[in-house]
Amino acid sequence: TILVLDFGSQYSHLITRRLREFNVYAEMLPCTQKIAELSWTPKGIILSGGPYSVYAEGAPHVDHDIFKLNVPILGICYGMQELAWINGKGVARGEKREYGPATLNVEDAECPLFKGVDHSQVWMSHHDKLHALPTGFKAVATSTNSPFAAISNEAEHIYGIQFHPEVTHTTQGKTMLKNFAVDICKATTNWTMENFIDTEIARIRKLVGPTAEVIGAVSGGVDSTVGAKIMHEAIGTRFHAIYVDNGLMRLNETETVYKTLTEGLGINLTVVDATDLFLGRLKGVTDPEKKRKIIGNTFIHVFEDEAAKIKPASGQEIEYLLQGTLYPDVIESISFKGPSQTIKTHHNVGGLLENMKLKLIEPLRELFKDEVRDLGELMGVPHDLVWRHPFPGPGLGIRVLGEVNKEQLKIAREADAIFIEEIKAHGLYKEISQALAALLPVKSVGVMGDQRTYEQVIALRAVETVDFMTADWYVFEAKFLKKVASRIVNEVDGVARVTYDITSKPPATVEWE
Ligand code: XMP
Repeated sequence: TILVLDFGSQYSHLITRRLREFNVYAEMLPCTQKIAELSWTPKGIILSGGPYSVYAEGAPHVDHDIFKLNVPILGICYGMQELAWINGKGVARGEKREYGPATLNVEDAECPLFKGVDHSQVWMSHHDKLHALPTGFKAVATSTNSPFAAISNEAEHIYGIQFHPEVTHTTQGKTMLKNFAVDICKATTNWTMENFIDTEIARIRKLVGPTAEVIGAVSGGVDSTVGAKIMHEAIGTRFHAIYVDNGLMRLNETETVYKTLTEGLGINLTVVDATDLFLGRLKGVTDPEKKRKIIGNTFIHVFEDEAAKIKPASGQEIEYLLQGTLYPDVIESISFKGPSQTIKTHHNVGGLLENMKLKLIEPLRELFKDEVRDLGELMGVPHDLVWRHPFPGPGLGIRVLGEVNKEQLKIAREADAIFIEEIKAHGLYKEISQALAALLPVKSVGVMGDQRTYEQVIALRAVETVDFMTADWYVFEAKFLKKVASRIVNEVDGVARVTYDITSKPPATVEWE
C-alpha cells in the first residue's frame, strides 16, 4: 500500500485513482496523520499538492516521522515544496502564477522516476516555487519556467516534482507514478477486483461472525445491488435486503428489481409497497426541498418498520446495517480542508443508524464507481444493471414538477421509458451519463387530427459528466430528437409538447427540481 498524504489539492484523490489503474492499492489520509498512529507500514509515501504556502504561518506540515520509515517519498507541487522546506527552506513566491501546460526536459536520464519518459507535456498549477536546491538534492528535470521542475535525493529515494502527474494533461504522468510505486517503492500490484472479492468476503465474515444478522436497503441501482450481492456471498440468508416501493419508481422497476435480486442473484429480499403512504404525505406539496424531506423521512419510517418485522431464523437480533458508501464519499470526509478544520470521520447515513442502534457495514467503501461496476460484472450482476445511469433517491418525485400524484407520475414514467428505450436502441446509453424526462406543470396548446389539445409539456434532458459536479448537455442528432418527441406525444396521454433542455451545469442542475 502507498500512503497518500493530502494537503488539500483538488487533485489529491486522483493520485489514488491513478495508482489503482496499474493495480497498486493506495490509501489517502489527511496530511496531519501521525505516523506512529498508523496501523500499517506503507511501501512508499506521496505528499499531495495543496493551496497553501509552506513558509506561511499556520501552513500544514507533515509529521517528520515519515523519514524514519525509510521508504521512498514523492512530493508533488506543495508536497515538493514541503520537502524543500524541511531540507533547507529554498521556497518563495514566484514572480507569476504558473498554470497550464509546460514542456518537461528530463536532464538526468538515469533518474528512475523518469524511466521511459521523454520531453513531454506536464501540467503546472503553482505560485510558489523553489529558488534553490534543498540540501542533498539535485535537479533531474527542468521546464521553461522551472529550473527545478523535478528534484531527487537518490540516496534516500526522495523525489519532488513541481507539476501534477495525476492529471491526464500530464501526458506521461501515469508512467511516472508507476515508476515511483512499482519500481522505486516495490509496491505489490495485486489490487484487482478478483482479489477484492475474496478478501472482502473474508473480512465481512470475520467482522459479522458466525451468527449475526445484517439488513440493508436496495434501490435497484448499481451500488446497493453490488453491496447486497457481496453480503449475500459472504453470509447468505443472514443478509436481509429491503426494497421500498415509494410509488416514485420508473416503469416496471419494482418487478424488475424483485426478479433480478431474488431469481437472478439469490438475495433474500422483502419488497414493501408504500406507494399510498408516500403519495398521501406528498399530497398538496409543491416545494422541491419539502418533497425531498418528506420522501427521505418516509423512507426511514418504512424501512425501520419493516426491519422490526424481520425475525431471523437464527433468533438473533439484527446487528448491522449495510451502507453502499463508495470511496469518493470517504475521500470527501477525510480530505484535508485546512489547518484549523476538524476532520469529519463519519459519513452521513441519513438518520437510520442513530434510530436503529445498528452498526455499519460498508463493503464498497474502498472502491471507486468504475471498480464497483467491474466487481458487479465479476459477481454476475446483470450487465444492464451494472451500467445503469444514476437515479435520484426521491425518484420521479422530483421529476414531476410541482404536486405529485398518480396521474402525473404515470405520464412522467411513460415518457421516461420511451426516451431511455430510444437511447438504448440507438446505442447511446453508455456515452450519456444520465438521461431523464421531467414533466412540467404547465399546459400548452396543440393540435391532433382536427382537435385542439391543451396538455402538458415534457422536458427531456441528457448530460455527459465525469463527476456530476459539472455537466454538459448531450448533443443528439436532430432525427433522434424528432423520433423521441413524436413517440412521446403520440403514445403518452396528457402530453402535447416535448422540449430538449440545452443548459449546462452550472448554471442549471441535472434535475429540474
Ligand atoms: P443535480 O440535480 O444536483 O444532480 O445536478 C446531480 C446528481 O445527483 C442526483 N440527485 C440526487 N440523488 N437524492 C439523490 O440520491 C437527491 O435528492 C438528488 N438530487 C439530485 C441527480 O440525479 C444527478 O445524478
